[in-house]
Amino acid sequence: MNSIQQATANLSNLPIKMIMARLKIPTPPVLEGAGMVLRFPEVIAVTGVKRVLIVAGPNVSASGMVDPFVKALKQNGIDAVLYDKTMPNPTIQNVYDAVKTYNVHQCDAVVGFGGGSSIDCAKIVAAKATNSIPVEQMDGAFKLRSRTAPFFAVPTTSGSGSECSIASVIVNPETKTKNLIADTRLIPLAVCLDPKLAASMPPSVTAATGMDALTHAIEAYVGDMDTSFVRDKALCAGSEIFAHLENAYIDGDNLDERMAMMHAAFFAGEAFTRGFVGYVHAFAHAIGARYNLSHGMLNAMLLPHVLRFYLKSKKATAKMSEFAYNAGLGELTEDDKTLAQALIARIEDMNDSMDIPKTTDAIIPEDVPHLVDHALNEARLYPVPIVMTTGDGIQLIASITAR
Ligand SMILES: [Fe+2]
Repeated sequence: MNSIQQATANLSNLPIKMIMARLKIPTPPVLEGAGMVLRFPEVIAVTGVKRVLIVAGPNVSASGMVDPFVKALKQNGIDAVLYDKTMPNPTIQNVYDAVKTYNVHQCDAVVGFGGGSSIDCAKIVAAKATNSIPVEQMDGAFKLRSRTAPFFAVPTTSGSGSECSIASVIVNPETKTKNLIADTRLIPLAVCLDPKLAASMPPSVTAATGMDALTHAIEAYVGDMDTSFVRDKALCAGSEIFAHLENAYIDGDNLDERMAMMHAAFFAGEAFTRGFVGYVHAFAHAIGARYNLSHGMLNAMLLPHVLRFYLKSKKATAKMSEFAYNAGLGELTEDDKTLAQALIARIEDMNDSMDIPKTTDAIIPEDVPHLVDHALNEARLYPVPIVMTTGDGIQLIASITAR
């Protein structure tokens, strides 16, 4: 597809962009603070639910983190059933298996407990519990016909922003693609941000999830659906991440650093769920689904290259410079390009300081045309500031491919 065809394709999505710009997206109520996960059942109990399905992954389940929460639920008159087989890139099968458990045990609510994968999976479990359409047909925007089952989120990482976003990403293993499901009904009824839960994250996960949050903030800010709300939230997230992510990476037990990163991920989630993401996410989804690679790590690798590509656009360069200035990366007297380059350099420094690789050897050259097609097709949904051609996409993938 040449640049004119691609631009026309992007324009064809204008109606959905206009709808999204006017959509009222609620921010879920938050209970936050160290140890608050043990008070969260009091919030859940207010809704009258009696038996929740907790959707988690094997690592969170094995860590024992869920057990005190289950005990606190019981003390508040709520039974709990655990589904702990969620994969790092959750699959359609994960959703069907968890829904089966939900139905067998006659649950009446869902709690996503874990990283973005578990919360994404829990959202679609809650949706499937009340919607008869197959998960495969939920792909896209506003496909849910009924409200979801009551749904709550307890994040244990600080990155995906799934706890306050309208989106969920579910892998279809047959096509090796990621289905992006978006609906305002996927916002949780309430969220618990407890930094003690994030303290158990290993440094590599802290780095990858934190860079995912930074990518949400920057892509929402640089994109063309940047309302004042989106800009405010994105800038808040950026400042917090530049100030706290590397500290959280080094000193994982520091609850102040963990709380700051939980706020940052939440702010970035609020920004991107209204302002969308861009090419970094489109390529990370295509490559991640094909080779089962970490979403955050791929975003971190791709982000500097995509931002360098955006330097071709004056408007995008000006926005990157605003983002950099707000984060204290330069002076107002510096020109836009210098400040934008300072932002890119800071991201590359962060990647280096947190041992995030620059390239991956997973990408198979024969797959590249398919990956580019898939990514550019997904990006048609996004308000990107400048349009990529197929050649640009091939070059982008080459820049993160180990030779
Ligand atoms: Fe992301």
